[in-house]
Amino acid sequence: MGFLGRIFKGSTKEEENMTNSKLKIGIILGSTRQGRVSPQVGQWVKGIADKREDAEYEIVDIADFKLPFLGEGTGQEPGLQAWNEKLASLDGFVFIVQEYNHSITGALKNALDSAREAWNNKAAGIVSYGSTGGARAAEHLRGILGELKVADVRTHPTLSLFTDFENYSVFKPAELHLTNMNAMLDEVIAWSGALKTIR
Ligand SMILES: Cc1cc2nc3c(=O)[nH]c(=O)nc-3n(C[C@H](O)[C@H](O)[C@H](O)COP(=O)(O)O)c2cc1C
Repeated sequence: MGFLGRIFKGSTKEEENMTNSKLKIGIILGSTRQGRVSPQVGQWVKGIADKREDAEYEIVDIADFKLPFLGEGTGQEPGLQAWNEKLASLDGFVFIVQEYNHSITGALKNALDSAREAWNNKAAGIVSYGSTGGARAAEHLRGILGELKVADVRTHPTLSLFTDFENYSVFKPAELHLTNMNAMLDEVIAWSGALKTIR
């Protein structure tokens, strides 16, 4: 029983929802190209996250939604509606970010632009990869997330195409990333829970 329950001798429905239901965190794959490595990275993140048992984690693959390029469709595409509904059902995000020309992919930018309120007042962590750990793409993403009212946490695992992948294609992450991954997830869970209270 929570603090309202102790005062009023019973829990409110809102309080029960806030304390009993697990947070829902989407692990968003930022690339959609054929031959992409993002599913391998996403599955690794999910494996680490699931062991924590502190939230419901799911992979959210932008490619599944067949989003039209913003403004070029009718706006009534089922994928567009499904994308907004999926985001609305989530409390927080972990973005799997790959660096394309020193920024995020066009697919991720389009997916970010394709929703608005469904992003607001939620938290996000970033896991990035590239020749310099995808750092430049991740920093671009932080600027975009600010505009969407997504609170991005500080801890940011960066994976190297040179040392965390074999032949730039088979994901073999170094052991050292595990500590950073869990620190990032700790922050995402804390902030996702906090922001849920203001939505
Ligand atoms: C169009 C394009 C541009 C890229 N530009 C960069 C870049 O600026 N910096 C970098 O570190 N890697 C760059 N790369 C390499 C990608 O980070 C690498 O191919 C990575 O595997 C892409 O993620 P994905 O396999 O999930 O699509 C680029 C790749 C593509 C396809």
